Amino acid sequence: MTPEVDRPEAASSGSTPAASRTPATPAVPAVDAPPETQDLAWRHRHLLDVDDLTRGELETVMGTADAMREVLARPIAKVPALRGTNVTILFYEASTRTRVSFEAAAKNLSCDVTNIAAASSSVSKGESLVDTVRTVEALGAHMLVMRHNVSGAPYLASEVFGGAVLNGGDGWHAHPSQALLDLFTLRSRLPGRSLEGRKIVILGDALHSRVARSNIWTLTAMGADLWICGPSTLLRGFEGWAARGAAGRRFTVTSDVDAAMRDADVVMALRIQKERMAGGLLPSLREYAARYGLTKERLRLAKPDCIVMHPGPMNEGVEIAADVAVDPRSVITAQVTNGVAVRMALLYLLAGARRAGGNA
Ligand code: CP
Repeated sequence: MTPEVDRPEAASSGSTPAASRTPATPAVPAVDAPPETQDLAWRHRHLLDVDDLTRGELETVMGTADAMREVLARPIAKVPALRGTNVTILFYEASTRTRVSFEAAAKNLSCDVTNIAAASSSVSKGESLVDTVRTVEALGAHMLVMRHNVSGAPYLASEVFGGAVLNGGDGWHAHPSQALLDLFTLRSRLPGRSLEGRKIVILGDALHSRVARSNIWTLTAMGADLWICGPSTLLRGFEGWAARGAAGRRFTVTSDVDAAMRDADVVMALRIQKERMAGGLLPSLREYAARYGLTKERLRLAKPDCIVMHPGPMNEGVEIAADVAVDPRSVITAQVTNGVAVRMALLYLLAGARRAGGNA
């Protein structure tokens, strides 16, 4: 398999980078109606990654999520748009935010939802991923939301599943819906709803982070000046991509935390992924917290109104101080809340593409 840290460049070496394509002007759909009745600027049958989304498609997701947020503000936060659609949520790894918000999103669109935790399914008896996906389809699933510890697993699922596959996080590779909810949250908070030229710092364990790999695509596609910062052992592969340049995208990789934090508009702390950490990458968590943890003192280097993010779950006192997590500048809870509207938008758009015979 292609090393994960090379995927951004591999994809960006194609004919036309997503960032430089002409943005479309998407219409905000009336999401009470089924998606096949809408003229949606969306062609993807699956959501496996964000590296192939154009700026116009990112705007379509944002606009549709705006409409979903309006639904969520109603006294009865439910529309019949996807009535009759069966959504199966198949998670091979632990999750709170992604699993629960996809379930809430699907129910808000009037889908029928089935949850499968791999540990209590026939996977524990040795059933393969392919057989599990075929079984889920035979039981009536139209859309499959899956999380897997192996990078690329949702791609394999999409080859055998007749409906739409949504990647809820695969290994170190991608977490598309997280990157899209992060973008939605930033768009809601930044003046003019624009990321153009904004200095955004992703601080922490980039090496093991599917969130970082997906955010690199979406944030740079929207014009952000993206900095990735952490100990050099947790930046392997990213420096090479930044040094070679990436088709007009602004992307800096550094271990100099002061340089990264200086005048930052946004800082997103990443969880130290102890469960994926091989020996020798960090001397100790205490040293990591001292040198790279997001503290109030470090935050003073950033702009006074710097937005603080974290995809969760957090190791408070390691990558982020407890008082920073609840600081008024923190949008961590809003990220979780916005996950429902964004995932409603994704289910809606993919259902529309499925019914229209979308092929990507
Ligand atoms: N951010 C995120 O993916 O959280 P969960 O693991 O709780 O889904």
